[in-house]
Amino acid sequence: MSRVALVTGGTRGIGAAISMALRNAGYKVAATYAGNEEKAQAFRNETGISVHKWDVSDYDACGAGIAKVQDELGPIDILVNNAGITRDAMFHKMTPQQWHEVINTNLTGLFNMTHHVWQGMRDRSFGRVINISSINGQKGQMGQANYSAAKAGDLGFTKALAQEGAAKNITVNAICPGYIGTEMVLAVPEKVLNERIIPQIPVGRLGEPEEIARIAVFLASDDAGFITGSTISANGGQFFV
Ligand code: CAA
Repeated sequence: MSRVALVTGGTRGIGAAISMALRNAGYKVAATYAGNEEKAQAFRNETGISVHKWDVSDYDACGAGIAKVQDELGPIDILVNNAGITRDAMFHKMTPQQWHEVINTNLTGLFNMTHHVWQGMRDRSFGRVINISSINGQKGQMGQANYSAAKAGDLGFTKALAQEGAAKNITVNAICPGYIGTEMVLAVPEKVLNERIIPQIPVGRLGEPEEIARIAVFLASDDAGFITGSTISANGGQFFV
């Protein structure tokens, strides 16, 4: 029986690459999306991967959505917490709404999702939780006090939960992508991207979503059973921890 994987924000960007890579590796995959109906349906039509709409910042919606996915595919063995948003602004211009939206999605979303699959993973003595953090949670980024705080929080969450899951054969790891060529990064003002960001990447280019997806596939595999609480950076040499 193939294992079941759920990827949040799994119909676009890095999440879509992870959904497809897991599917190609033989898993049964479901992907969530929050708002972009058109992209999600196109993704489903192209890949055959089932797509489900809910907001990861809503605890009850996560519970209801996960129950539906589990009815359809079976118990979730692998959870990839990928869904994330940006609301970039210099701190002196950042609104409480911009702060809360990012914290609620990018940090509390991990609690909301993981909490609903955790007991099942404990009961079955197997689980893989893969949290997509960010280089900007490691190093901080101007214009992203909200995002950097949430993504750094994701790393603390990963390390604490790894300790709780270890005895039950549940691994919890984080991936910190650098700047990857997705809509999120391409939304950065062109001048800032070309003059301030790309010159700071030693390999001289943005990353590809598939370069992150391959790490997720490895972390999901039995081969990665001794890796837990880890942070894997993939940033083209832009930042070393
Ligand atoms: N690195 C270095 N300098 C930066 C910068 C960055 N990432 N972002 C902005 N700056 C600089 C600008 O070049 C500008 O400097 P100059 O006045 O010398 O030209 C100064 O900061 C102010 O910037 P703006 O004029 O753009 O100010 P603004 O108030 O109009 O906009 C901003 C501020 C919203 C933060 C905008 O600059 C921006 O979007 N910056 C990009 C922030 C960023 O890196 N976001 C990452 C998004 S991708 C992501 O989050 C995925 C991931 O995990 C990596």
